[in-house]
Amino acid sequence: MLRPDICKLLILFSLFCSAAASVTYDHRAIMINGQRRILISGSIHYPRSTPEMWPDLIQKAKEGNLDVIQTYVFWNGHEPSPGQYYFEDRYDLVKFIKLVEQAGLYIHLRVGPYVCAEWNFGGFPVWLKYVPGIAFRTDNGPFKAAMQQFTEKIVSMMKAEKLFETQGGPIILSQIENEFGPVEWEIGAPGKDYTNWAAQMAVRLNTGVPWVMCKQEDAPDPVIDTCNGFYCENFKPNKKYKPKMWTENWTGWYTEFGGPVPHRPAEDLAFSVARFIQNGGSFVNYYMYHGGTNFGRTAGGPFIATSYDYDAPIDEFGLPREPKWGHLRDLHKAIKLCESALVSGDPTVTALGSNQEAHVFKSKSGACTAFLANYDTKSSAKVSFGSGLYDLPPWSISILPDCKTVVFNTAKLGAQSFQMKMMPVNSTFLWESYNEETVSANDDGSTAMSGLWEQINVTRDATDYLWYITDVKIDSDEGFLKNGQSPILTIFSAGHALHVFINDQLSGNVYGGLENPKLSFSDSVKLRVGINQISLLSVAVGLPNVGLHFEKWNAGVLGPVMLKGLNEGTRDLSKQNWSYKIGLKGEALSLHTVSGSSSVEWVEGSLLARQQPLTWYKTSFRTPEGNDPLALDMNSMGKGQIWINGQSIGRHWPGYKAQGDCADCSYAGTYEDKKCRTNCGEASQRWYHVPRSWLNPSRNLLVVFEEWGGEPSGIALVKRTMASVCADISEGQPTMKNWGMLTSGELNRPKAHLWCPPGQKIFQIKFASYGQPQGTCGNFKKGSCHSDKSYDVPQRNCIGKQSCSLSVAPEVFGGDPCPGNMKKLSVEATCG
Ligand code: GAL
Repeated sequence: MLRPDICKLLILFSLFCSAAASVTYDHRAIMINGQRRILISGSIHYPRSTPEMWPDLIQKAKEGNLDVIQTYVFWNGHEPSPGQYYFEDRYDLVKFIKLVEQAGLYIHLRVGPYVCAEWNFGGFPVWLKYVPGIAFRTDNGPFKAAMQQFTEKIVSMMKAEKLFETQGGPIILSQIENEFGPVEWEIGAPGKDYTNWAAQMAVRLNTGVPWVMCKQEDAPDPVIDTCNGFYCENFKPNKKYKPKMWTENWTGWYTEFGGPVPHRPAEDLAFSVARFIQNGGSFVNYYMYHGGTNFGRTAGGPFIATSYDYDAPIDEFGLPREPKWGHLRDLHKAIKLCESALVSGDPTVTALGSNQEAHVFKSKSGACTAFLANYDTKSSAKVSFGSGLYDLPPWSISILPDCKTVVFNTAKLGAQSFQMKMMPVNSTFLWESYNEETVSANDDGSTAMSGLWEQINVTRDATDYLWYITDVKIDSDEGFLKNGQSPILTIFSAGHALHVFINDQLSGNVYGGLENPKLSFSDSVKLRVGINQISLLSVAVGLPNVGLHFEKWNAGVLGPVMLKGLNEGTRDLSKQNWSYKIGLKGEALSLHTVSGSSSVEWVEGSLLARQQPLTWYKTSFRTPEGNDPLALDMNSMGKGQIWINGQSIGRHWPGYKAQGDCADCSYAGTYEDKKCRTNCGEASQRWYHVPRSWLNPSRNLLVVFEEWGGEPSGIALVKRTMASVCADISEGQPTMKNWGMLTSGELNRPKAHLWCPPGQKIFQIKFASYGQPQGTCGNFKKGSCHSDKSYDVPQRNCIGKQSCSLSVAPEVFGGDPCPGNMKKLSVEATCG
């Protein structure tokens, strides 16, 4: 596949556009048609958004100056039962790839089929676990046969659609397995055999394009081993003739229910990329570029949240996340300006100071490109390079495509940014409720078995829910009936959440967490003379996706279950007869659908259930006008699931508050996933994305199943809109506009641009400071250096206009508020 712009040229020479190209590699880079390329890639997982969102996401990736879209292939979505394939709707892989092709971008297809990805069971279908004699991801016959069959299915499908680059399609790279190296390290010889088998099996499929194996130091030739991590500058492929590639540069991190929300500063992300490129890297993929949503029951974990936003450059709702998206776009442009020198060979590295370096690339034709790096986390540095002096902020890299002019510095945010907010769009919903009754041992569909059974073995993951029911007989001579000391019920469960009912009354909710999914319940219970029913609703919250033999992890009430404080002492209930009922009554009745929901009697008004466990709620609402992305504010609810027009939005669990540390953070210094987090003490996930394409033209059915008990009147439909627009520009901020024609004056007098969406005007300046302000859009603060004229200038030039530009220079602000110090202008405005 060739890019449209190149195509136009080629048409002139009467060549055709879908010309097949070769994809090979050498020690420096992937080569397309013999041409070494610096490739910038971004992960977008097709089932984590809707097909209606795909064209726009891909377009935003293209505008972000990406060359490649990377995706995993999700086996459990494509083969829900053995031999029954599904490639429609969000799983229409071919459509997704063709949209990427139409946009003129390449594809990196990670077939896996193990994917990890915080996806249910790491992408494996649950039926695979029950294939006789199977052991996952090792030298095991049944596993290898199933893996080969699925890999062949995908590769032959791609070939039939002519999607490999060698056939004229967009796929330039594939991946087999995923981060198997660390597992091989643990399991030894059978792991090594499996690695060799997987590589050979893949290579034999003759895709014509290279295969990679990530985190696999011993990847056999010709497979390329690649790096995953927050930083990869020191990575070295296992052979001199393989290029240095980074398959996962984590743009943020995933959110778990019960955990704070991670953020990775844009400056650090840009720094990591520039550092990799200056050290000879030639392929970088952002994991994730758009994270999206774990719709339905696709979230893995357990305890992975429904939102898979990931703090990615495109947010969960499909909107650019600023300043990250724009900062990376500019970084990519700067790197592209250097491409010819970069691919010419390896850099020459010279020290510019104790913690500063220059990496210089020279081409035979004389092109020279330099990256000037300051690794100091605290101090900026003035370095001399060539015939110039350069200011390098802490933890930053400046890019000089011609070895003279700085066009980009990773720590200087130049892009306009926005702050988004969630704004209610509806008047309140009118709710109706339906009570999901607890189940009794002789209900239809329940099965009696002796002892306690593992949950997934029973449900095969067809639902989150499994009822465990048993009877406890209490004689009239029990001492506790007289002394008032209620017996204590103790339950041990392998996870993930549990609701305990005694004679249909809720006795408690308990749950585990990502670190330890196991849980226990221990409390006094009210028992009466005669037969008492203990009903335990055990709830799975996504199957594990990572860890040694993760497929062997159990869920559900495995016991022991003990009752203490009886005349006999402690009674062990674990081995007695238990009845099992898979799923909820409301699930069996399909209450989430239009037809199913009309099959039962709902109540409303004063009869509406409030703060009641196990309650179904339904309402209908009109589709809000406009195109702003929509979400549900679920903050008043506990735990459960949400559907709109029969489509599952996912699990909600705002009742699980984020525990951990949310200290302030600086972009400078090594990032790790616990460094810059928000939401401590609040819901880990409050907002739940409602894709516009799932709404009907007028009326919609919204159904919520609530496990804990919540206040439905607090649920609101909200839209994601711009709260304010900001510019945050430093003096000496390089600019790539008119690259090649810059005068030094232009370089030192950058302009801050503010603009509102079409039809809106700037009506208020919320913050302005020329000097040394701190913070980011929405949270700017004045520093000790601040010009008194800071507000006047934007007030005068911007109010009432759709857009405006402000020069960042002392004379514009009536003088220099702190001579000799580097200053910047931060402005926040509202549009309306
Ligand atoms: C990687 C894995 C990805 C994803 C990531 C964390 O190790 O390859 O699939 O799970 O971690 O988000």
